[in-house]
Amino acid sequence: MNIVILAAGQGKRMKSALPKVLQPLAGKPLLAHVLETALALAPKAEPIVVIGHGAQQVQAFLAHLANLDERFSKVKTVLQKEQKGTGHALLQALPKLNPGAPTLVLYGDVPLCSKETLNTLARLSDGAVGLLTHRMENPYGYGRIVRDVDNNVQAIVEEKDANPAIRSIQEINTGIMVLPTEQLGKWLKGIKAKNAQGEYYLTDVITMAVKAGVPVRSAQAADDYEILGVNNRAQLAELERVLQTQIANVLLENGVTLFDPDRIDVRGELRCGKDVWIDVGCVFEGIVTLADQVRIGPYCVIKDTHIAEGTAIEAFSHLDGAKIGPANRIGPYARIRPGAELASDVHIGNFVEVKNSKIASQSKANHLAYVGDSIVGSRVNIGAGTITCNYDGVNKHQTVIEDDVFIGSDTQLVAPVKVGKGATLGAGTTLTKDAPPGKLTVSRAKQISIEWQRPTKVKSVLPKAKKIARK
Ligand code: UD1
Ligand code: MG
Repeated sequence: MNIVILAAGQGKRMKSALPKVLQPLAGKPLLAHVLETALALAPKAEPIVVIGHGAQQVQAFLAHLANLDERFSKVKTVLQKEQKGTGHALLQALPKLNPGAPTLVLYGDVPLCSKETLNTLARLSDGAVGLLTHRMENPYGYGRIVRDVDNNVQAIVEEKDANPAIRSIQEINTGIMVLPTEQLGKWLKGIKAKNAQGEYYLTDVITMAVKAGVPVRSAQAADDYEILGVNNRAQLAELERVLQTQIANVLLENGVTLFDPDRIDVRGELRCGKDVWIDVGCVFEGIVTLADQVRIGPYCVIKDTHIAEGTAIEAFSHLDGAKIGPANRIGPYARIRPGAELASDVHIGNFVEVKNSKIASQSKANHLAYVGDSIVGSRVNIGAGTITCNYDGVNKHQTVIEDDVFIGSDTQLVAPVKVGKGATLGAGTTLTKDAPPGKLTVSRAKQISIEWQRPTKVKSVLPKAKKIARK
């Protein structure tokens, strides 16, 4: 089967510098959703994307996709320099089509049509034209399916070219269709732009097929949302909710506890083990894995992170590019940044930031700390207000904290620096040289106490401020 995805249109109503087909739905451009479905169809096909508006951006995105995932390297593009209509768009792809196989036409801005629906439509294609049609309460704006008394499809008439009788038809053209490729070339070349919009309408091939005696059959989508297109922000938001509901339902079916399935957003892939709990308002981005018995508190943002079994992430925590070991307790209000690797039973508390650091098992940083570019051993206690000074304004340096170290509150470790096994750093220490193992290292000024008298209140000797008179 040939698959052509029409994606050259501008999408003016999105009011965006980003081409419409690159607008994200559940964190992924519309076009990526369509391509994924196209690549999952049987028989296999190499999709051709007709690009035009924002062609460079679309092409760059396709190259990026192919880099990430080999499946997408099969996708080809053709350029439609001027957008003269859907018929003209398909004509650009004609030289690349295999005449021996039917051609499935998809739209780059109809992202949720399922592979089951498309396979059903494709099965109609045996020498015939197959149309995916839909009944709508309010069909305004769509092309209407005109049938004869025997219910055979005769034509598709666009809203702008329709008379009141045709406008009252509620069966619409979704735009998705399958066509016999051998005849298609002749039909496409025969299309005239004699209509209200002065465009070459692909829908005109239907009357040509009827004239040529080629049967026109129709199929319907299993679900209403499958045929919805994105023309403006409201439609994009509506589809986002549809997709998020679907994702939430799959999670529920797989045994994940969602405290409110309407309040979770998955913008990528969320893989969950058994007995995972997710509280409200969480956003998952990229690839996130939550192992058995992981609990995510409310309003967490978690991106490209693996969380091992039994770990609890408390409310308002932000994790990105991290590997979190088992039985950790993270947050509330923790920030775990790329390159953080925490072993088992690690505690990271409120307002603690960890970046590009390995923390071994049973270590704790419970309050207000920054651990950056560090290697932290086991059973280390990092006191409140401790900061690794990893950046000298030009370069980053490493801090090494060995096993069983105790770091008193409000300590600065000026990297590169090393704290030996079992060392204690007194509160308030500014560590600029390595601390030897087993010893107490302190760098604060000696505490003194002196006799003194608190000042008492006297009449002010300062000149009085002038009052500004109001007019
Ligand atoms: C089209 C159909 C209409 C159908 C509706 C469903 C035609 C003439 N009309 O109308 O019957 O009910 O879709 O949504 O086909 N595109 C190009 N190049 C162009 C023009 C369009 O690639 O020159 C692409 C667009 O990017 C889009 C798709 O084709 O993905 C549909 O184009 P659009 O202009 O939205 O068509 P409609 O007027 O909505
Ligand atoms: Mg449209």
